[in-house]
Amino acid sequence: MTAVLMGIGSFLPPVTVTNDDLSRTLDTTDEWIRTRTGIRERRFVSEGISTGSMAVTAGERALRSADVSGVDAVVVATTSPERLCPAVAPEVASRLGLGPLAAFDLTSACSGFLYGLATASGLIAAGTADTVLFIGSEAFTTLVDPADRTTAPIFGDGAGAVVLRRGEPDAPGALGPFDLGSDGALADLLAIPAGGARQRSADGGLGHATVPTGDWYLRMAGRPLYTQAVERMTQSAQAALKRAEWSAADVDWFVGHQANIRIVRAVAEELELPGERVAVNIDRVGNTLAASVPLLLNDYAARGDLKAGQRVLLSAFGAGLSWGSTTLVWPEIRAESVD
Ligand code: COA
Repeated sequence: MTAVLMGIGSFLPPVTVTNDDLSRTLDTTDEWIRTRTGIRERRFVSEGISTGSMAVTAGERALRSADVSGVDAVVVATTSPERLCPAVAPEVASRLGLGPLAAFDLTSACSGFLYGLATASGLIAAGTADTVLFIGSEAFTTLVDPADRTTAPIFGDGAGAVVLRRGEPDAPGALGPFDLGSDGALADLLAIPAGGARQRSADGGLGHATVPTGDWYLRMAGRPLYTQAVERMTQSAQAALKRAEWSAADVDWFVGHQANIRIVRAVAEELELPGERVAVNIDRVGNTLAASVPLLLNDYAARGDLKAGQRVLLSAFGAGLSWGSTTLVWPEIRAESVD
């Protein structure tokens, strides 16, 4: 038995920030951001909206799409948690009225959705849960220095959710074999140095060194990450295809993590997938980490571009470093459009 996709939902916060908006305060231009990243605008959380509330709304929509009122477990992938402790998943489960069930968070940055799918599949395959609500939710713009032109234009906020159930491996929506990997030797290429146990105190109290303000924000080495992203996503996608016994010609849609349009296109080119089979929404949402892949799936399904029976290759790469890929045949499910 395996995990089968039976519902999907997503949420974008209402505040849209365009490249022109950013260039009012940053030394950048719409032209630079568009041509180097493919991003035109992104959403920002605002008062009253954060990782937990976005997860609740996306989760509600996924439960409605699956036409179920209960599940056995809730997993939230996020690298922008509400608080360092506790995990947000129990609160999300409670706010959704799902009862005292298994609920936990998972941190795997931009590959969080792939790691979460694999984890949810594991819960189902082991018989721990028959149904899982899995949500990727990120308010990562709150962790990015608004004055840093090398990171501020790239990220956006949002959430995407899926409901998975136990089913046969040949059922439409059944997740294929996974390829997952990591390289912790390159952890510093994308990191937020402070806030965790390693570098915690802001005031130098209790014998800790004072934390420089910049350490509370994301630090990113864009160039080497770019190279790693193309290489790792390509290798991972190829490995998942091989395990599923698919060739690139079998793939109707490549749904790759939206970090940079140039990365997505370079991976597609390496995989020999033509542009018309490459799903893209980075222009409207930016890099939304663990929410990226489900937001993209929801977008394409809601407007009818992603149809039942089509073969989908999912792949993501992110901080850690970490990466993952899998395959599925798209099932007959309802997806609501989000603006
Ligand atoms: N506006 C204008 N100029 C900018 C800029 C901005 N927002 N950000 C950087 N620049 C400048 C740099 O200072 C540099 O100037 P220099 O040539 O005078 O030194 C020039 O643009 C090129 O910078 P570089 O960093 O080499 O650009 P790039 O083509 O690599 O694009 C990224 C930068 C970040 C968009 C790209 O490297 C990338 O997408 N990397 C992967 C990031 C990623 O995936 N992160 C999440 C992990 S999933």
